[in-house]
Amino acid sequence: MTKHILTLCCLILTTGAIAKDYKNTKEAMNEIFKAFVDLVPYAGNEMKFKDPKSEEYIKDRLLKLKTAFQNAKHLKKINTPGFSPSYETISQHLDQTYEGFSMSQKSFARNRLKATAEMCISCHTQLPKGTSNTFRSLSKVSRSTFDNDYEYADYLFLIRNYTQAAQYYRQEILGRIKKNTELRKIQKSNTAVFIDFTIEKSLERLVTIYTKVFYKPEKALKEVLAQKSVEGMPRNLVKKLDDWKEDLEKWEKRKISEFKSEKDLNKFLSQYVEGEINQISSHVDLLVISGFLYRFLNKYPNTPAEPKVLLFLGSIDEVLNHSYFYSLSEIYLKRCITRFPKSSYAKKCFQKYKDQVEFGYTGTAGTNIPDEEQAELARLKKILNNAK
Ligand code: HEC
Repeated sequence: MTKHILTLCCLILTTGAIAKDYKNTKEAMNEIFKAFVDLVPYAGNEMKFKDPKSEEYIKDRLLKLKTAFQNAKHLKKINTPGFSPSYETISQHLDQTYEGFSMSQKSFARNRLKATAEMCISCHTQLPKGTSNTFRSLSKVSRSTFDNDYEYADYLFLIRNYTQAAQYYRQEILGRIKKNTELRKIQKSNTAVFIDFTIEKSLERLVTIYTKVFYKPEKALKEVLAQKSVEGMPRNLVKKLDDWKEDLEKWEKRKISEFKSEKDLNKFLSQYVEGEINQISSHVDLLVISGFLYRFLNKYPNTPAEPKVLLFLGSIDEVLNHSYFYSLSEIYLKRCITRFPKSSYAKKCFQKYKDQVEFGYTGTAGTNIPDEEQAELARLKKILNNAK
């Protein structure tokens, strides 16, 4: 009997997930990509995802995906301060997704799978341009796999095919506006709109490409102006585009080059980030600042300025990215505390983390922090105190 179980287990191990050491990030990513692409049609279609006939296949690919990440653990590039928090997040996230799926929590697993793309993006938007041309040949998934232009655009964005992604975001915007116009005719109303956020999200992605991924304020400005003049652009978004325009004009006038030293970093921070990052609410400013910070961190992974950069990245991510499933911000702040407990920034990171937790659990009935969060806060506090 025991032997039987043993053979079964090893069979699963060899067919489903093979433990191997990747030579480099590229090799790991190719395998990650294969499993991910196989899952794309299922993530995009609820019926398909929940079909009992698909179960074995999906499970197998989820296992492959999570195992490929596990097997990439040792890679040098993944262990740098810019990528490591995303790595930690996605590994945990995929474990839970796989577990959820195995326990037949399929809606939950599907929503998680869809949220995974955002974590791929959190690493890939840090990569300098031209790192890889293979991305292009990889875009073998066609538009017809996706329900709409937005989802396809997001896929292209993930694999860093930014030129094509931008085209599909623009197409999505026009398409949605057209649909809203038709709806108004049918409903004989001036204000009827479909409730969805893809116009806004598409605009945000377009601006992200030219601010965070590539620092090209003039290109971003051109895009914003073009979008502002799109006929039928919802009024609240025109207002938003106006704000972005103002911010971009500011950046366009500033002549900033990539930081070559900690001195450059500090100069930039004191000049443009001034004191508390909490006070900056401009989407454009935060994107630009995070782009510079990631590029610096990835170029100088051993910089003594890391805790300071982590504090800023944690603060920026808190404003820019909200997910029900994960918080990168939290991981940046924890890394700052646990790896640099002696740094003066560790205290600030702790305060910020504590504020986030308290805010998250504060409601009409007061503050109600669960025991495990209390314990985590106590653990971090102890690390700080021991370092004194
Ligand atoms: C921890 C950071 C990180 C995460 C998370 C991540 N990637 Fe990557 N990815 C990288 C890096 C770094 C490269 C560049 C590798 C190189 O060219 O050396 C890369 C490159 C790639 C490539 C191009 C491979 C090539 O030939 O250059 C693909 C495809 C890819 N990733 C897919 C994915 C998918 C799909 C996900 C999410 C399921 C994902 N990645 C999540 C860091 C990450």
